[in-house]
Amino acid sequence: MAADPAFDEVASILADRGIDAIDCAIVLGTGLGAVAEDVQDAIRIPYAELPGFPRGEVSGHARQLCYGTLHGRKVLIYQGRAHYYEGGDSTVMRVPLGVLTAFGSPPLVLTNAAGSLSAEMRPGSLALITDHINLNGPNPLIGDRGDGRFVPMVDAYDPHLRGRFKRAAEKAALSLGEGVYMWFTGPSFETPAEIRMAKVLGADLVGMSTVPEVILARRCGLRVAGLSIVTNMGAGLHGGTPHHTETRDVASLAAGALRRLLRAFLSEL
Ligand code: HPA
Repeated sequence: MAADPAFDEVASILADRGIDAIDCAIVLGTGLGAVAEDVQDAIRIPYAELPGFPRGEVSGHARQLCYGTLHGRKVLIYQGRAHYYEGGDSTVMRVPLGVLTAFGSPPLVLTNAAGSLSAEMRPGSLALITDHINLNGPNPLIGDRGDGRFVPMVDAYDPHLRGRFKRAAEKAALSLGEGVYMWFTGPSFETPAEIRMAKVLGADLVGMSTVPEVILARRCGLRVAGLSIVTNMGAGLHGGTPHHTETRDVASLAAGALRRLLRAFLSEL
């Protein structure tokens, strides 16, 4: 998968549309699309125009890429991802992520909306993902070939990028929690019993995305950072009864904090 002709095909389309250097790639999760409004001299391309990119939509996701300058850096922003729960395909983000290798493998920042299992990470706050738990079964590298599929996952969430985000949070005077993210396929939310299980297993955050993307990105040799926007407490905790409207609305409100964090991160990159 490391050198896939599909990546070159998309890379040449992007190059024809004026995309050359990329300093940082960012995937925006549910309700976070507004972050891309800050991009200057933006080139926007709907995923529908790019082979191998996901089709369809989820409310809260625009499904286009946006390239341009953000706080002095060239960024490629994916406004909206596709999730495993849409069609049962854990490789659905393979081409959008893999194409980054044709642009010098810039750091990849994956954002998501997540439920919190920790009283210290309240709805509306931001958290850095330190590690993940995947007990769902699907792994996007199933069916991949060669020894490269045995991807080491120690430090999958790059310690150097994590350090940069911590410094950026200090600079922006933002509190930034951190913890282990556990992937549930969704699209139903977890039961209170599942949330209790996740806590016992060592999770601090739960969500329906990101984990397959991190595995795919590591397979391609990309350095990854993961940021969660805490939109709710996990089901059953402190009366947590998560639903999608809340996820979308709280994430939109917290997008301002994410913008400030990214500003501080990018300006030091
Ligand atoms: N569970 C799963 N995914 C989520 C949640 C949650 O509580 N909140 C936002 N995305």
